[in-house]
Amino acid sequence: AQALLAPRDLEGLRVAVSAGGTREPIDPVRFLGNRSSGRQGVALAAEAAARGASVVLVATNIAGDVLADARHPSVRIVTAGSAAELADAMADAAADADVVIMAAAVADYRPVAVSDRKLTKESGGIPSIELVENADIVASLVAARRPGQLIVGFAAETPEDQDELIARARRKQQRKGVDLLVVNEVGWERGFESADNAVHVLGPDGAIAGEASGTKRAVASAVWDAVSDTLSSDRT
Ligand code: CTP
Ligand code: CA
Repeated sequence: AQALLAPRDLEGLRVAVSAGGTREPIDPVRFLGNRSSGRQGVALAAEAAARGASVVLVATNIAGDVLADARHPSVRIVTAGSAAELADAMADAAADADVVIMAAAVADYRPVAVSDRKLTKESGGIPSIELVENADIVASLVAARRPGQLIVGFAAETPEDQDELIARARRKQQRKGVDLLVVNEVGWERGFESADNAVHVLGPDGAIAGEASGTKRAVASAVWDAVSDTLSSDRT
């Protein structure tokens, strides 16, 4: 019934969505990772397809049962592991997308050197892992933006209070040059790995263009509403 009632307001729109969290290899058996499950990005892909869009979902380290929710004739799934792989896959996907959403949690740093062989205790001492900063993928997508392309960033923050949450989000939106920024508060018990989420969506002018809480699918619906509003106000 939900599919029958879903508006088809994204018909003909081509979208690229990244989801999940990158893993930066240390050696053949270890990585630096984060707690992103990919559920919010998968919900964004599924919601867009239900509303008529054609979707490329770049999935980074998403469990099969989570990814199954994105199965739809209009969703093409591409996988990426590390931030570098995600950067390549998103550059490809964005090249012919009208809307790009970077929902993936990208590792800020990666080990300078990846060992071909497992680090072992036999080598003695406690290893220290030297890190180097990963390129900012969404900033590169903004720099390579096609005319009229809308780019949406995400931010997961652990603020002191709501004012700090919004202030940090506005700074991030400006720093990255994204059109819309979806910000959610996360913590040990909130945001990651859970079924529910609560977000604010900052519009192109930095004002709050949408708010949603509840299931990740409900949040996805509110994000696409904000995208849809922004696209139609650009056209007028
Ligand atoms: N992002 C990205 N490439 C990176 C890091 C982040 O594309 N190397 C994207 C994320 O996918 C997200 C947005 O940038 O859409 C914000 O990510 P976040 O980690 O909040 O931003 P940072 O600039 O890394 O700031 P912080 O120091 O708060 O982690
Ligand atoms: Ca970061």
